[in-house]
Amino acid sequence: MSDKIQTPRGTFDVLGDAARARDELERTARGILERAGYERIETPTFESTALFARGVGESTDVVQKEMYTFDDGGGGSITLRPEGTAPVCRAYVEHGMHKLPQPVKLWYLGAYFRAERPQHGRYRQFWQVGAEALGSDDPAVDAESILLLAEILEAIKVSPVRLRISSLGTPATRAEYKAELQTYLRSHEDRLSGEVRDRIDLNPLRAFDADHPGTQEVMRAAPLLLDRLTDEDREHFETVKALLDSAGLSFEVDPTLVRGLDYYTRTVFEFTSDALGSQSGVGGGGRYDGLVEQLGGPPTPGMGWAAGVERILLASPPPPTAAPPLDLYVAYAKPEYRRDAFKLAADARRAGHAAELELGGRSLKGQLKSAQRAGARYVAILGDEGTALKDMESGEQRVIQIDTVMHHIRTGL
Ligand code: HAM
Repeated sequence: MSDKIQTPRGTFDVLGDAARARDELERTARGILERAGYERIETPTFESTALFARGVGESTDVVQKEMYTFDDGGGGSITLRPEGTAPVCRAYVEHGMHKLPQPVKLWYLGAYFRAERPQHGRYRQFWQVGAEALGSDDPAVDAESILLLAEILEAIKVSPVRLRISSLGTPATRAEYKAELQTYLRSHEDRLSGEVRDRIDLNPLRAFDADHPGTQEVMRAAPLLLDRLTDEDREHFETVKALLDSAGLSFEVDPTLVRGLDYYTRTVFEFTSDALGSQSGVGGGGRYDGLVEQLGGPPTPGMGWAAGVERILLASPPPPTAAPPLDLYVAYAKPEYRRDAFKLAADARRAGHAAELELGGRSLKGQLKSAQRAGARYVAILGDEGTALKDMESGEQRVIQIDTVMHHIRTGL
């Protein structure tokens, strides 16, 4: 026998209870998002590498070291999508969605890929549920978007969750602030970690994320972007906060909140759960008012989030595992009755019943046992005496005409 082949590192199969839990999450997310007017979108699993390089940002970890990038066989470069926002913006431009009534509200659920070091809650193929609203900079879009994720997490009973929000202002404010922060970091260079020091030019904001004690000490006195916002951006942020308050959603303002992707402007937020250990980010997002234009579209504001499906499920109780009900199990005594049995099961399904046929070549006794295990409400047994229908709840059994089986399932024996 040759060696067993297993799933690649950082990937996993989804089956049994885990598959049912995902179905439940998908149903819940769909219900909440579609009631708010979001429509489903699915973009391809791979995209041109340039989309992420330009959209997510050359300086981010995602682009620098976490992308699965391949030659497409014709001289082009493609990348397994590490995230969903750049693809949705590409689709918005490609389909001329700016001509639709704005904002265009879209949601998605699918697999994403990052070449990260796998650990509990961190995988190389993971799933995200996400929502994007394009074409309006109204702060109500921000507040509603955040509220929708909060409602999904609450419905799935993710706990305990903490919501942190902040504002990054406009790219111009950010650029000025970045220069100010760089000057500050350089003046304290000797106390910073090597990694932070190396990234002062590229991404100084990440210094707020560092777990190096010396760096943390320096960052406690660092200037904050939140104190440098323009009046307009501050007002926008104040309105977002007031709307969240009015919806009764509690949050903390965290001026050091850093997101790992470059496209954010104004509002950013993150939900975390202590149930997850070190990979505590359940979901997050924010506003990205320049992204569509950066990808070749008209100037278009955007706001959205994505949440990790595995992390949501890790931080929530398993849903009750009710097996789907089975209306009819079709058993047969001898091989010559297989044809009629096959047709009966197919007809029952066409009529909208859950029906299964014996497929394991079992003895009649074995078939009845397997019907019981499957929780069948009725069993039809095709044999020499005709068709017997057994009510598995009362134990009653009667010989009936085969073409009246469906009638009896509906009305009882
Ligand atoms: P992100 O924070 O990079 O944002 O990812 C969103 C969520 O995906 C995380 O909070 C986490 O739950 C999950 N996630 C990320 N990487 C992994 C991994 N390796 N294993 C398991 N789960 C993971 C985005 O992707 C943005 N596109 C969100 C967004 C949408 N911003 C605006 N619109």
